[in-house]
Amino acid sequence: MFDIPSLDIPSLSSAGGRVRLPGSKSISNRVLLLAALSDGPTLVEDLLDSDDTRVMLAALRQLGCAIEEAGPASVRVQGLGGRLPVREAALFLGNAGTAMRPLTAALALMAASQGARFELSGVPRMHERPIGDLVDALRQLGCPVQCLQTEGYPPLRLGDGAPHPLHLNEPIRVRGDVSSQFLTALLLALPLVAQEHDVVIEVVTELISKPYIEITLNLLQRFGVRVRREGWQRFTIARGSRYASPGRIAVEADASSASYFIALGAIAPATPGTDGIVIEGVGLDSIQGDIRFVEAARLMGAEVVDEGNALRVRRDTWPLKAIDLDCNHIPDAAMTLAVMALYANGTTTLRNIASWRVKETDRIAAMAIEGRKLGATIEEGADYLRVTPPTAWKKANIHTYDDHRVAMCFSLAAFNPARLPVRIEDPKCVGKTFPDYFETLFSVCHTPAERIPVVCIDGPTASGKGTLAAELASRLGYHLLDSGALYRLVGLAAEREGLSTTEADLREPAHAERLGRLAAGLDVRFTPGKTWLEGEDVTEALRTESAGMAASRVSAVPQVRTALVDLQLQMRRLPGLVADGRDMGTVIFPGAPLKIYLTASAGQRAQRRHKQLISKGIPAILADLLADLEARDARDMNRAHAPLKPAEDAVLLDNSELDIEQSVQFVLKRWHGQQAFPVR
Ligand code: DC
Repeated sequence: MFDIPSLDIPSLSSAGGRVRLPGSKSISNRVLLLAALSDGPTLVEDLLDSDDTRVMLAALRQLGCAIEEAGPASVRVQGLGGRLPVREAALFLGNAGTAMRPLTAALALMAASQGARFELSGVPRMHERPIGDLVDALRQLGCPVQCLQTEGYPPLRLGDGAPHPLHLNEPIRVRGDVSSQFLTALLLALPLVAQEHDVVIEVVTELISKPYIEITLNLLQRFGVRVRREGWQRFTIARGSRYASPGRIAVEADASSASYFIALGAIAPATPGTDGIVIEGVGLDSIQGDIRFVEAARLMGAEVVDEGNALRVRRDTWPLKAIDLDCNHIPDAAMTLAVMALYANGTTTLRNIASWRVKETDRIAAMAIEGRKLGATIEEGADYLRVTPPTAWKKANIHTYDDHRVAMCFSLAAFNPARLPVRIEDPKCVGKTFPDYFETLFSVCHTPAERIPVVCIDGPTASGKGTLAAELASRLGYHLLDSGALYRLVGLAAEREGLSTTEADLREPAHAERLGRLAAGLDVRFTPGKTWLEGEDVTEALRTESAGMAASRVSAVPQVRTALVDLQLQMRRLPGLVADGRDMGTVIFPGAPLKIYLTASAGQRAQRRHKQLISKGIPAILADLLADLEARDARDMNRAHAPLKPAEDAVLLDNSELDIEQSVQFVLKRWHGQQAFPVR
């Protein structure tokens, strides 16, 4: 998750490989509820991990349903079989509409039939989201339902602790023009009480969002409940219906999220050695409405092949074909077409998209404004968008309006032929449906190394490089290379193998070769905040003064330096790298666009190190530290191979009088000035 003000995506050149997308939110929460209402256990796989599903899991557990983790993204739900072990509870449901609506229906029915009492509440925004149509339907059935603050809105009290007879002989009437979730809630819950009667639901208005009702009916069928549907007006749940667990059920990957990777496969040339993009967890037989995005992508020229619960996408027609399409059936995924249109051979028109105006933001306006920043010509109508690709692409910072889809869409502009990077503001907004979107994107995108930015931070020991580099990496969302750690690792590994690291021994050619081989074969792994040598956590051992001294000695051995070059070059990965060391700017990344050389005096550095050690309760003598520092400086600067010195084009930064934040700001200012993204 990139929790930073903005993320710069370098110009990208190709894509290929497999992605696994998060599970569909709509399916996840429906399945959890159905599994909880069924008899016996259900293994739910590929569950979405998001705010909404966490709320549902917590509520079900509070109701007495046993749910255990069963591997990554899997849970085992012990169904309650429609019986309530807990008869009184207050459930907090956050802002999860997909938990509030179905739980209201299920708990109101169970509270009335079994004698129980529940209170359901959420965040303030949840208390502004209407639920009156569902409350009306439940009251018709004879369920006691009380709106505790405002009539028609949560918080709600369901039941009063006593059993109440239910009126199941008459059709239950519900409106379907505010939210289809009210009908979904009734459909999911009424099989609980359809033992002796057929239960009929009548929709008394037009029904919106029909594809979501299809998901509900489909999942009910997977749990053994058949619903007879007459048009979109009348739904009958047969007498004697019972939820029957399918035993195991996998949640499909989210089809709307898939649209970005389908578009990616259509836009990006396949990386050599790959055969396009494979999206796992969703196939053409998906029960989600947005799967029909595939038809639109094919019209524009994508090759999409169903590989059985997976889609393979390859670029086919190029440039893409401009289209003129009614997008009413795929309102969310159609935004992705607006970005594909930037790569088309003419003007694309997306019609019948008025609903875009009332989503997370006014999406018609947002796509038009941001697309124009890239150089496209965009005409915006009340319910349409007409996109003509840029003739000259422009460097743009994309504002994202707290709308996950705007952010995900415009990331695909990084394939522009002008090879310009794209800046995405507030990238963490993707967390609404796809927290790891950018990580997933970068895992299958490729670009020549020279397009991946590197910020080099070189300087003498104890100059504060490490802290500065780590801070910059986290502010820019870049990877971090602590090259000193590699030399420290070699020193440590040598010690563990019983190999001497004295200067005299290291001058022996055969010994130097052995150390080189040791460095080339290092079994090292980096995880956030930890370093592992041969499977052992050596983070602390690496930070000791003696490891630093050993590192300084082994780093003078040319064979060791050469052996570590590839490892360092491989760290240059999307979206960028901050590299800290002695020769980052001079030897490893000589073409880096920004090189900083820290120049605090030895006296200052010794004092800092002294303070640091004392604060940790480690005894230290200032004069000894100064002598050690000077010895290391001398060795690092005077060695024949890759000596410590500023690169010719390095920016010198004397941070003696600066605190960390001031140094960070100094570098960020240079960096952003150099990137020259237009200001809004
Ligand atoms: O930055 P540090 O103190 O962790 O580095 C330990 C030693 O490794 C340092 O004394 C010199 C050496 N080193 C190097 O030669 N080249 C680098 N790029 C990084 C560190």
